Amino acid sequence: MKVFVIGSGVMGSGIGQVFAMAGHEVTLYDVKEEALKKAMEGIRWSLQKLQEKGSVKDVESVLSRIFTSRDLSEARDHLVIEAVFEDIKVKSDVLGRVSPLTDEIIASNTSSLPITELSRAVRNPERFLGMHFFNPPVLMKLVEVIRGDNTSEERFREALDIVKSLGKYPLPVRKDVFGFVVNRILFRLFTSACALLTQYTPHEIDYVAIKELGMPMGLIMLLDYTGLDVNYDISKEAERRGFPFKCDVLEGMVKSGKLGRKSGQGFYDWSKGKPEVKA
Ligand code: 3HC
Repeated sequence: MKVFVIGSGVMGSGIGQVFAMAGHEVTLYDVKEEALKKAMEGIRWSLQKLQEKGSVKDVESVLSRIFTSRDLSEARDHLVIEAVFEDIKVKSDVLGRVSPLTDEIIASNTSSLPITELSRAVRNPERFLGMHFFNPPVLMKLVEVIRGDNTSEERFREALDIVKSLGKYPLPVRKDVFGFVVNRILFRLFTSACALLTQYTPHEIDYVAIKELGMPMGLIMLLDYTGLDVNYDISKEAERRGFPFKCDVLEGMVKSGKLGRKSGQGFYDWSKGKPEVKA
């Protein structure tokens, strides 16, 4: 299968890596050369880590299946995964331009935008659906596959099989609601954790999440990890759609350039790697 991933950020590059590791030929598309270069460096780092752990045998052979492109027309006849900025206009624009080029499945990795609304930009929307990976895509097993009002049952099942063939666990989502399943739970947890920030430190809140709730990463750290800008945008979208995801401190932090792990600073200092949670 030939796969074209639109957007080479953390999610796009991770999704491309997952497909390449499963033996598919992948083209990573972005408008900026610099973004593609950074994506390839990140993929190489991740593959080397996985090789150290024994889950990847040959880093170079996986890398040889990944190409980069700044030309959208190279999506011709490819299965397309869209993983651009979480903005309905940006996503709709790129979906509108790519959909005449291929008859294969077109999937969006959106976290919060309705699949049915996005499908309006797609030519032949019966092959359009959500394929929502979690960060980091190479390590997280679950992938939500979301059926919009216009998605055909046949293409939906095909997408579930594709996800399974990647060694992932596909969660069928037949109700196209805000946050789908996982984020419908997670955004409420984020809201509760954020509300506690007036009384407790990020370390204290995360200590409870890890030690008492058994989470692999604290909730405040997870906001940093997935990106404060990403979470701020989602919280704005949630507000427009009447969903209770609120974290008031995000706006000021994003405006002052604190984006979490990707910028080196967020609730935690990431400049020396993953911070340690100390109660
Ligand atoms: N590729 C390969 N290896 C990786 C990696 C990657 N992308 N990311 C981390 N690793 C490696 C680390 O380098 C480390 O290797 P080492 O043992 O040789 O040092 C090893 O994995 C373990 O990582 P860490 O020591 O950094 O930390 P953890 O043990 O906490 O594991 C984690 C990291 C897997 C991210 C774990 O903390 C976790 O599962 N966190 C929760 C993630 C989560 O919930 N994601 C979903 C977010 S919500 C979302 O994405 C939805 C969106 O719509 C908002």
